[in-house]
Amino acid sequence: MKYINKKLTIENIGFQKIANKFETPCYCYSYSKLEENINNFKKNFKSFSPLICFAVKSNTNVNLIREIKKFGLGADVVSIGELMMALKAGINPNKIVFSGVGKTSSEISFAIKKKILLINAESISEIKEINRIAKLKRKKVQVGIRLNPNTDAKTLSQISTGKKENKFGVNRKTFYEIIKYCKNSKNINLKCLSVHIGSQILNHRPYEKMLNVVNEIINKTNHEFEFIDLGGGMGIPYSEKNKKLNYKKYNKAILKFLKKRKVKIIFEPGRSIIGDTATLLTKVIYIKDSERKKFIILDAAMNDLMRPALYGAEHRTLPVNKSNKISKKTYEFVGPICESTDKFITLKKFQKLKEKDLVAICDVGAYGMSLSSNYNLRPKAVELLIKGSKINVIRKRQKHKNLI
Ligand code: LLP
Repeated sequence: MKYINKKLTIENIGFQKIANKFETPCYCYSYSKLEENINNFKKNFKSFSPLICFAVKSNTNVNLIREIKKFGLGADVVSIGELMMALKAGINPNKIVFSGVGKTSSEISFAIKKKILLINAESISEIKEINRIAKLKRKKVQVGIRLNPNTDAKTLSQISTGKKENKFGVNRKTFYEIIKYCKNSKNINLKCLSVHIGSQILNHRPYEKMLNVVNEIINKTNHEFEFIDLGGGMGIPYSEKNKKLNYKKYNKAILKFLKKRKVKIIFEPGRSIIGDTATLLTKVIYIKDSERKKFIILDAAMNDLMRPALYGAEHRTLPVNKSNKISKKTYEFVGPICESTDKFITLKKFQKLKEKDLVAICDVGAYGMSLSSNYNLRPKAVELLIKGSKINVIRKRQKHKNLI
């Protein structure tokens, strides 16, 4: 994304042109950014060529998953719906891992039927259920156990998953019990230890700590794991203030861990692959003056992008047509939804806006559209993939007739 003659563009196409043709609000994805992210991710860990399973929860658009698949990635899914979507996008079942604390019997059954690479179980009860279903089907099922390493990811508390108070994974004691259980089962093949300590992690140290815990635990068992699934969580800089994750140091810690060990590493990245590929293009409906600030009422709302309302997340917000006039008052960018949390960002300094102006909300590729809803009976926005000079509609704008 860059300004050309004061006009904001994506892959050299003006957002103004996109808005004229496709209307707003509108999700615009850059193919070249996606390609760059995947290539960089691979490059960062090329010395041990991991299996990279894209976390489908971050973006469930079948056309984007199809593009991601072309780079050889697999998928990390957390529901039967996501599993179906990954299969529809053509992802090889042998590259699919299934995580989540509450897989139902029918989800487990479907995953077994599709012969996916791993069901990563998160409790003794789940392992027993997998065993029961596998026995009924007379199958041997490949599973992983998700360990809760009790490691603080030093990220937002709402998206931290690796501490003992979080519902995810099992503690050491249960981990050893499950290994024993699996050894005695003819229908379970325990192949993987998995961990995922949280999301939007920008500091490599929590990963180092996590690896130390995993190392210690594996050394205490005499079980041969074929895979170690390190999850995802690699953060992206949402603002200039954010530091970038140091991939070199993370890579180094993994190489140290891999010394004397023959295991395949799996990653489950979502945000680091898709997060900064998309922009939410939106239009100012009204500007309302209050005493201290001006409300910039946009045609996008919390149903389109939930992250600010849910986590207080801030996304860079830019004018589509640049000018040098700065507003004297603070701007609060809000949506039309009847909730006070329907607000994107408050900015003290922003260029002067007028009604009908276009605004770009950045880095919304991950957990943007996938967290969107029809709240207030608002149809979901159109999704566009910009590839070279082509604009492809990869998901049509919902119509009211789809909802009513
Ligand atoms: N693997 C597992 C088991 C996960 O739970 C997650 C994310 C990922 C992989 C992918 O994490 P990533 O690489 O995208 O950080 N809605 C929140 C993020 C929730 C993440 C949930 N789990 C947000 O908008 O920031």
